[in-house]
Amino acid sequence: MNSGSSTQETRGDGRAFGKVILFGEHAVVYGVPAIAAGISTGAQATAILREEDRIRVNGVQLEPSHELYRALGVLREHLDVPPVDLELIVDLPLGAGLGSSAAMAVSSARALGDLCGRQLSQRDVFFAAQAWEKVFHGNPSGIDVAAACSMGLIVFTKGETPEPTPLAQPLHLAIAQAGPPASTRLMVEGVARIRERNPVQFEKSLAAIASLSENGRLLLRQGDLQAVGKLMDLNQMLLAGWMLSTEEIETACACARDAGALGAKLTGAGGGGSVLALCETDQARKRVLARWESEKIACFSADVEVDWSKEHGHS
Ligand code: PMV
Repeated sequence: MNSGSSTQETRGDGRAFGKVILFGEHAVVYGVPAIAAGISTGAQATAILREEDRIRVNGVQLEPSHELYRALGVLREHLDVPPVDLELIVDLPLGAGLGSSAAMAVSSARALGDLCGRQLSQRDVFFAAQAWEKVFHGNPSGIDVAAACSMGLIVFTKGETPEPTPLAQPLHLAIAQAGPPASTRLMVEGVARIRERNPVQFEKSLAAIASLSENGRLLLRQGDLQAVGKLMDLNQMLLAGWMLSTEEIETACACARDAGALGAKLTGAGGGGSVLALCETDQARKRVLARWESEKIACFSADVEVDWSKEHGHS
């Protein structure tokens, strides 16, 4: 909590991270443990008490009809906080499968807690932010919020507490924007229809993704990134089987592999949005980014650190 000396306003601040999913998006909805990570780019929220809610995102004042006001209302109600002036700075591409919405939700929950001088637990923040997310995404698994809470590698199983998982070495990731994002809700519904049409085949794919996720976790712990990359490629094939890939996603993955990435796959809901490439070194990553840029594909880099728990005050 900060008291601005010139204005005497009490202010609350909160930060949260963007997310990538290394293994198990969509399968996580059916109970498969997924591997996700918070990345350093994310969102910063500042809240000041005010007579009625006001929201600015990256300096732009939102109209009162904007859906974010409904999400903020739900969040305030959940945390029992009066109206606020909420300033959000988001350094992630919005709605691109990188958890920008969850990062806004988590940073806002933390800012409201800070404003009221309350020490919110990770669990409090998780459930408050999930209430915000439900305004947009129906019934999300919670993986985005879990990753937004914690900058580092986690195993996330729906309905369970996210579990930090060890990493032998930092991950050098390259992220591309492979076409306009699709609605998460629609993509999740599409997968549900595929499941209805062919439940036996669906269960086989689900079991295969569960195995990739479990093996991926072990290999990340051992530091065998070559093998992790191969499993990411396999996960991409299975996601494509659920009609989640697009020509742009396949092109971005192919370019990344061709430029030396260890593996590449879509991350998030698919149908557009983001592609994640794992690179062995920072040099190798620069080559992948240069290749994407030469193909006019918007991209950036993100790191996942080994020992994030101490740095970010987790216990
Ligand atoms: O909203 P996105 O693109 O970050 O995707 C979330 C991950 C899904 O598994 C597709 C949905 C969910 O609720 O877990």
